[in-house]
Amino acid sequence: MEKKIYSDFTYESESFIHELFRKRKAAALTGAGISEESGISTFRGDNGIWKRYNPAIYANLPGLGFTLLVAPHKVINFITEVFDTLINAKPNPGHFALAELENQGILSSIITQNIDNLHQEVGSKRVIELHGNMFEFRCMKCNCKRKLSKGELASIMDELKNSRKSLFAIKKILIKCNCGGKMRPNAVLFGEVLDQTKISDAYKEINNNEVLLIIGTSGVVYPAAYLPWYAKEIGKTIIEINPDRSKFSEIANYFVKGKAGEVLPSVIEQIFGVTLMNDKEGCL
Ligand code: OAD
Repeated sequence: MEKKIYSDFTYESESFIHELFRKRKAAALTGAGISEESGISTFRGDNGIWKRYNPAIYANLPGLGFTLLVAPHKVINFITEVFDTLINAKPNPGHFALAELENQGILSSIITQNIDNLHQEVGSKRVIELHGNMFEFRCMKCNCKRKLSKGELASIMDELKNSRKSLFAIKKILIKCNCGGKMRPNAVLFGEVLDQTKISDAYKEINNNEVLLIIGTSGVVYPAAYLPWYAKEIGKTIIEINPDRSKFSEIANYFVKGKAGEVLPSVIEQIFGVTLMNDKEGCL
């Protein structure tokens, strides 16, 4: 297939949309970029969270555990900043557009590396969360799970911010399970093993669809980053939407340079001739 690169998304750059509509069966792989327009900074962008917090310390259990002992206020600042951002984030037109593509039977699933719950918030039904979900807590003793609302988490964060930012403060607010065990956010840290069922579900989605839409990921974190290479290997059509080139741009059949929140609603307009509406706030 001839490779097409759209250096700027315009209404003329339609052929990737025709391809999507013609083949219909698509899965999406999303990363931090799709939530950037929701106010959540990406990990590796200029203002990315890993530029401000060293992932060698903050993205793994040993690093967090050690810092908690020697400088608990740093861990508390990190945790409260992350949760404040997630609690205040609102889905953007990119999330709505993907939910609409699913409603219309074009998109069968979203495989996401994001932990922000925004796909589910707009009603996307089949979401495979490879890296977990920060609103879900998992008991470290019995492994049971419990989802907390934004309100519940906001009051926990307020308590933490108003505390003396000590190790004791963290222990006090740790959510307890009915079994007596302590619960932690059910999100994957570096060095932790991903849920193998989710990985195999993600591969099944690629097998069962004709198109892989890659949206807002740099493609540097594995095993998620294997998925597009596998899709390419078995002959699927790859459409990438990103304002910058990523590790996948070379293998994409179509590289659409643009923001998810602008390109995806335009796709909906092109296919269905409708402007996405949000019941509460009018046009998106
Ligand atoms: P990155 O921060 O590595 O990459 C974000 C990508 O989004 C970049 O390619 C940007 O160009 C693109 N981008 C920025 N704004 C965008 C927009 N408005 N629309 C579309 N794309 C945009 O984030 P991820 O690739 O998601 O893992 O990172 C993967 C994993 O690394 C994360 O899940 C996390 C992190 O460490 C864990 O925490 C386990």
